[in-house]
Amino acid sequence: MSKKVVVISSSPRKGQNSDTLCDEFVKGAIDGGNEAKKYFLEDIEFSSCKACYACKTPDMKCVQQDGIAPILDDMMQADVIVYATPVYYFEMCGTLKMFFDRCYPIFRNLDGKDYYIIMAAGSHCGDALTGIKNFIGFSANPEIKEVFECIGNVTSQKDILEKVYEAGRNC
Ligand SMILES: Cc1cc2nc3c(=O)[nH]c(=O)nc-3n(C[C@H](O)[C@H](O)[C@H](O)COP(=O)(O)O)c2cc1C
Repeated sequence: MSKKVVVISSSPRKGQNSDTLCDEFVKGAIDGGNEAKKYFLEDIEFSSCKACYACKTPDMKCVQQDGIAPILDDMMQADVIVYATPVYYFEMCGTLKMFFDRCYPIFRNLDGKDYYIIMAAGSHCGDALTGIKNFIGFSANPEIKEVFECIGNVTSQKDILEKVYEAGRNC
């Protein structure tokens, strides 16, 4: 059955390590007959969550008119969500954290999704997975299917490129 896949790429470096793996996942997902869309956050204008709590109403809408609402709509419709981050100071990068904060309208309403996590680090991912798992843990019935850690330059690592492609194809 065709699935709807949403990939959140949070590195500022388009075409580099984590973003390349996002593209591999998308390629695999499409080759597997699914519908897949990548959001490269650096290209999307958005601000931090203002903690106004206006989204805590039945229609779950954020008051900020920027690029976030369509992504959240797609995530609500998705069967599979991929979060990708470069590791900064052994944690997820600030852009992904800012994005997660903007998920406040929907974070508890994401229900029954499958998740894949992609992390890219120079030498060690440290505690980067914890915050991402914590965020996913607020959703309903989540299943974390696979976590990918890329250390160093991804282009010389055929094995992880293939693994991520296959994960997309079989998601
Ligand atoms: C601000 C900053 C902090 C970083 N902190 C870490 C770190 O804690 N551990 C690590 O192994 N690499 C660290 N790095 C290196 C990146 O994680 C690494 O270059 C990674 O491959 C970048 O992923 P990308 O190509 O997807 O942007 C850091 C890089 C920057 C710019």
